[in-house]
Amino acid sequence: MSVTAPRRLYIKTYGCQMNVYDSERMADVLRPLGYGLTDEAEGADLVVLNTCHIREKATEKVYSELGQIRRMKERKAAAGGAMLVAVAGCVAQAEGEEIIARAPSVDLVVGPQSYHRLPELIARAHRVAGERLAADFTPEAKFDALPAERAPSGVTAFLTVQEGCDKFCTFCVVPYTRGPEFSRPPAAIEAEARALADNGVRELTLLGQNVNAYGDGEGGGLAALIRRLAKIPGLARIRYTTSHPRDMTDDLIGAHAEVEALMPYLHLPVQAGSDRVLKAMNRGHTADAYLRLVGKLRAARPDIALSGDFIVGFPGERDADFEATLQLAREVRYASAFSFKYSRRPGTPAAAMAGQVADEVKAERLARLQAVLEESQAEFNAAQLGRVLPVLFAGPGRKAGQIAGRSPYLQAVHCDGPMELIGQVAPVRIVSAGRVSLAGALASA
Ligand code: SAH
Ligand code: SF4
Ligand code: F3S
Repeated sequence: MSVTAPRRLYIKTYGCQMNVYDSERMADVLRPLGYGLTDEAEGADLVVLNTCHIREKATEKVYSELGQIRRMKERKAAAGGAMLVAVAGCVAQAEGEEIIARAPSVDLVVGPQSYHRLPELIARAHRVAGERLAADFTPEAKFDALPAERAPSGVTAFLTVQEGCDKFCTFCVVPYTRGPEFSRPPAAIEAEARALADNGVRELTLLGQNVNAYGDGEGGGLAALIRRLAKIPGLARIRYTTSHPRDMTDDLIGAHAEVEALMPYLHLPVQAGSDRVLKAMNRGHTADAYLRLVGKLRAARPDIALSGDFIVGFPGERDADFEATLQLAREVRYASAFSFKYSRRPGTPAAAMAGQVADEVKAERLARLQAVLEESQAEFNAAQLGRVLPVLFAGPGRKAGQIAGRSPYLQAVHCDGPMELIGQVAPVRIVSAGRVSLAGALASA
């Protein structure tokens, strides 16, 4: 019996955490076929680009990467080998045909809903390339090729519980690339969470494009799911992202007050602070409704760290609208935030709207907004000085003798300490606060 040589799989992931999760699952699905992960594209047998379509720049990156991959593929072919190139993710979903036309080196295009079909699609691509496959897919080959050491999960893990979006914000491609909202059954999620916990995962981040729209089909929402998962032995921390203000129920807000494992951190994008713009964006809430929500969250969990997303230069955004965004950002005092210049996405309603904003104006607004956001982030970090925070250590720090992890508020924290603490939560007294991370000293020991 011949043993199939392990095949080298290179996956490059762009975009959001849901793509990170999907990439891991693609590796899982391909492992029984003999594919083991490599971090070098050069020479790989299968290259998967898991792509993002959210802004024009994200999509452009994929095409420039494909140019480099084509040259690698040619080098491998010249040496008598073969490289299969697959494009997955949101660009695959949105521009499948265009990719094949623009990048002839691509062998297959697979959208986010079809990853379970990868083995079959790859087999077909191989057959087209004239490779004989039957022998490679015998069960023996499958088990021989299973990697001896499974990829360690690490201390933190993502778990997708919800996919898709029904909100149709007028700027956004996600409803088109990920399809309608869909929630996984709680039993399947719990089984996956338990397996992760058994593998040493201490912190779980539940993922969904609209994670707080999660529903178990029997009236239970995300809060019920969190309460269920919080009972799993070994799981010390639960987070979830990304939430939509419209789906932020009292039940979920209440969970922040009651469930110890649920971390005091919430990513709650607002996009803009002007009601006129929010309406044109089809966000389904006003600035005031958002601020009231923030008030409720802070009443339930006074120390909660809030994070957000903003878009500047949406079509029709005037100076006064932008001032309202600055005002909202100042009022909320975000612990962290992402902000973007509006990017015109083909096929979305906003792309066809009148009043497109000039790039210089977008750039100027973005700089002003980011100054406000950076100030409140620095303020939030500085407020931790002298406090003792429980830190979940996830790995070594950058300098020798250091270990690094996250505070409950998702801040990066590093301190001197023994490697044995990795995987554990330990108290750290914060002694210095930078723009993006905190430094401290172990408070016990
Ligand atoms: N489902 C999540 C986020 C999806 S995309 C949510 O509703 O919040 C992540 C962020 O990208 C969005 O929150 C938005 O701020 C930004 N974004 C989406 N489309 C964009 C576009 N066309 N131009 C600029 N930023 C965009
Ligand atoms: Fe996009 Fe809006 Fe859906 Fe978020 S809620 S994924 S921004 S359409
Ligand atoms: Fe990008 Fe798709 Fe995520 S467009 S942000 S990879 S859902």
